Amino acid sequence: APATGIVKPLPPELFIPQGTNAETRWDAMRGQGYVTPADRFFVRNHVATPLIDVRTWRLKLWGTGLHRSPTEDRPVEFSYEDLLGMRAETVTAFIECTGNGRSLYTSQQGQRVSGTAWGLGAVGVAHWRGVRLATVLERAGLSTRAVDIMPRGLDAEYVDKGENLGRVRRPLPVAKALKDVLLAYEMNGAPLPPDHGFPVRLVVPSWVGIASVKWVGDVQVSDRPLFSPWNTRFYRLFGPDHPPEGSAPLTRMNVKSAFELAWDGTLAAGRTHVLHGRSWSGGGRVRSVAVSADGGRTWHRARTRGPHPARGWVRWELPWRPPAPGRYELLARATDDTGATQPVTAPYNTLGYLFGAIARHPVTVK
Ligand code: MTE
Repeated sequence: APATGIVKPLPPELFIPQGTNAETRWDAMRGQGYVTPADRFFVRNHVATPLIDVRTWRLKLWGTGLHRSPTEDRPVEFSYEDLLGMRAETVTAFIECTGNGRSLYTSQQGQRVSGTAWGLGAVGVAHWRGVRLATVLERAGLSTRAVDIMPRGLDAEYVDKGENLGRVRRPLPVAKALKDVLLAYEMNGAPLPPDHGFPVRLVVPSWVGIASVKWVGDVQVSDRPLFSPWNTRFYRLFGPDHPPEGSAPLTRMNVKSAFELAWDGTLAAGRTHVLHGRSWSGGGRVRSVAVSADGGRTWHRARTRGPHPARGWVRWELPWRPPAPGRYELLARATDDTGATQPVTAPYNTLGYLFGAIARHPVTVK
């Protein structure tokens, strides 16, 4: 049955008034199936999770990129039921925070960066079900003049160091919006949990996580390029290798890998372990994964396991018998089908985005 959930208000003691950032523990993915279960999926909220009543919720579309240019106060509207009544589609895709792996700029490269100090757990794959954004844009009267759309969340205004930046919103080129973007109302076969965007979120496959706006309330459709702090001040590369206004706004995520092991975990000596992990890329399908347990001197091709949808990740494994007790660094390097591979060093940028270097995963064998 399609999602019909109406969220019960959370008891006040469970209500977290600030934004929540919680990453997936990679050791908790060990033994899981292909997707990340919703209760283990990372959460990245700028402010508190809003609790939305689907009976009154409406998706509002407005702007100069629609026929007759409806205004913000007289938009084209769709109800939750309207969306459930449209042709549904399921997309298996990862969502990954652009700053995933940020703490490794410091721990591995000795560089100072600002932002949430994620390990490698700000990524997850789910089966998302919903309506193609293209369908809704067409029904709202998309004009050929449209160049950018800007979905906006219903969460509270975000105040950054005392400055009110307004509600989370990020422009998306119409070409991408029409290609493979979903207005999702289900995650892994159940209504979206509140933290992941109930009742409806965008899923923008392969792109920076900020594009996948949660709790969508309205979508501006414009015949001119749109801007918000989330494509000007954030989610560009800044630093010595970039112009003062930063790089172009970031779009696709890069290729990465992670072991399904606790960071700094322990393995028993004197036996063979099967090392498990996952690799993914916004550039395309991961073609191969190599693993090294001796600091990168020798590499072994890991055995990959399906399914392997283009926008998801690939699971892999490799048996390893530690030669002796001691400290080791496990390395995994994936290559995608565009030929992009994980470098030894990630190019520095002040906000610590896109850490795609080979992570040196510490373990102790004893
Ligand atoms: N949408 C809204 N409305 N508010 C937010 O804070 N965070 C973004 C994006 N969408 C955010 C949002 C960021 S930075 C990421 S990485 C993803 O949601 C995280 O999605 P998740 O919390 O479902 O894992």
